[in-house]
Amino acid sequence: MSRYMVTSALPYANGPKHLGHLAGAYLPADIYVRYMRMRGQDILFCSGTDEHGVPITIAAEKMGISPLEVVDRFHSAISDDFKGFGISFDNFSRTTCPEHVEFAQSVFLELLEKGHIAPRDMKQLYCSDCKRYLPDRYINGTCPKCGSEDARGDQCENCGTWTEPFELIDPRCGICGATPETRDTRHWFLLLDHFQEWLEAWLEVQSGWKTNVLKYCRSWLNDGLRERAITRDLSWGVPVPLDEAKGKVLYVWFEAVLGYISSTREYFRKTGKDQEEWKKYWQDPDTKLIQFIGKDNIVFHCIIEPSLLHGLEKYILPWNVPANEYLNISGRKFSTSRGTGISMGEYLDHFDPDPMRYALAVNAPETRDSDFSWLEYQSRNNELADVLGNFINRTLRFTASKFDNMIPVADLDMTLLNKASETAKEIAALMESFKFKKAIGLAMELAREGNRYFDTAQPWKSLKADPDRCAVTVATCLNLCASLAVIFEPFIPFSAEKIRRMLGLEELKWAEAGTVLLRPGLNLNSVEILFKKLEDGFEEVFDKPEETLEVEQKELEKPQVDFDDFMKIEFKVGRILSVEDIKKAKKLYRIEVDTGDRVRTVVAGMKEHYTKEELQGRLVAVVCNLKPVKLCGVMSHGMLMASDGESGVFLLEPGADAKPGDTIR
Ligand code: 2FM
Ligand code: ZN
Repeated sequence: MSRYMVTSALPYANGPKHLGHLAGAYLPADIYVRYMRMRGQDILFCSGTDEHGVPITIAAEKMGISPLEVVDRFHSAISDDFKGFGISFDNFSRTTCPEHVEFAQSVFLELLEKGHIAPRDMKQLYCSDCKRYLPDRYINGTCPKCGSEDARGDQCENCGTWTEPFELIDPRCGICGATPETRDTRHWFLLLDHFQEWLEAWLEVQSGWKTNVLKYCRSWLNDGLRERAITRDLSWGVPVPLDEAKGKVLYVWFEAVLGYISSTREYFRKTGKDQEEWKKYWQDPDTKLIQFIGKDNIVFHCIIEPSLLHGLEKYILPWNVPANEYLNISGRKFSTSRGTGISMGEYLDHFDPDPMRYALAVNAPETRDSDFSWLEYQSRNNELADVLGNFINRTLRFTASKFDNMIPVADLDMTLLNKASETAKEIAALMESFKFKKAIGLAMELAREGNRYFDTAQPWKSLKADPDRCAVTVATCLNLCASLAVIFEPFIPFSAEKIRRMLGLEELKWAEAGTVLLRPGLNLNSVEILFKKLEDGFEEVFDKPEETLEVEQKELEKPQVDFDDFMKIEFKVGRILSVEDIKKAKKLYRIEVDTGDRVRTVVAGMKEHYTKEELQGRLVAVVCNLKPVKLCGVMSHGMLMASDGESGVFLLEPGADAKPGDTIR
């Protein structure tokens, strides 16, 4: 038996996490950990929220609350969502907990004493309009390497270079756009160059790592590692534990990667176990450390964290960092703030976790970016219902109606069960090399095999003609159901548990797949529905509610526009023909407007301001060529112009003689 320490990237507690996050670092880790637990391995799975850093302070400013309120709110929301999806952390901590703060400070002091950290007097960009030192990622400018004008002070997304604020050409404040000034300050630097040679040699011998991960690392090493500032002039963060560093905090990445260790320490404290036992998981060379992350975190887990751990001298190093690529949604980047993609919580409000776990595992972005769409989700959900659900259901219903819901006393068809144990072995090898996508494909193939067996054996015919044969078929299928419960458990744990419950089975071990798990003569429990098929249009439940849209509109910045751009907008006079309520919408009306060329449907937030009668027949100003959007399930083909201020909301009204279709300029 080996010992394993598994971590998933600490998510920023700055907002709800979406399905892209789930697919990248949490679901794969959970699949792996559940599988390893079923193998009886000694394994610990820790993570927690990343509660410091600029993302948190920005969220606080936007929301008008304190950073502490932000992290409190989102820590619980995020951990509830993970629970909802069955992500089975042993501990899910927070980097604001005192245990972590103390630990991070002690690591800083130890590395300082060992000579791997040193102070440097330096210049830093300060925005006098915003009255703040500019965090790296809030400086925009031109990338010195590829020339992209969208580079930030921490990274150029275009070419992937890790930039420094001073390297940017023509730097600008990322918050207000002003040109920042340069000020003197002192910061502490991690002397990464100390670790260059050692890292090169260490990475050289890592077998079994994904090629994309090694490629990224090599490219950073080829550029040569330089010292990096690991303190910041900010008020929110882990204070630098030195008298001369008042008002400075540790750089979030320096302390966040240590959060995995703090979370493990907290686990042993909270569970009342031996307080020194965390060391077994972080310092004993027999432990394998596996860190699940998204590709944007590679440098921190494969360069920075190993350097820190190596510098501390007594820690183990990552055994593997199976970083995933990105999951896109219909070809676009997942981003809840930009309104693309679905948060975990939104999904769970409407659907069960397992179909999404399945769909995301099948489409896992393991070696390249993958795309998520509701169409794909629907077909994966229906595959679960048609293949796995159908096999379990038909077997159990047949047993209930023809065998008194009792496991028949019969020999078993071992060919089918042997197939199950072979599949379990193949899946095991794939799981251990982090190929979950292939693994789940094989699991589903076994369920298909079950259906083929049932179809060929035709128990509904043999029931009369050859009852013994029928009993063999049913007993074999029931045992295959049990094997499928084993094999699917890491992927869809809630459904696997339901299958076990129907079969009257307790928790199972991986090695039990393909074995005889059901005692003949025993009664089964009542049949439960495993998966519901989804009809077209099911995704309408995710249409954005009106409140969110309003917020998004308010957040839009208003840059200057050219006259030509202004003239692209098609303004017309319209006459309101009819007004209706929209189901579940408190503020919206569905309005039919005649704009001369056609009658268009417009969804407008006028319900709190006008009665239907007041609107009926009215002349209005309509923006006709807005891209259609669906609001609360209704497609809107335009917008009614209105003034909006403290005095209220008033529709703009063309003169009484204007006609529908007249141009407004
Ligand atoms: O990218 C992120 O969401 C970071 N909060 C990940 C941190 S992982 C590690 F440092 F703990
Ligand atoms: Zn500024």
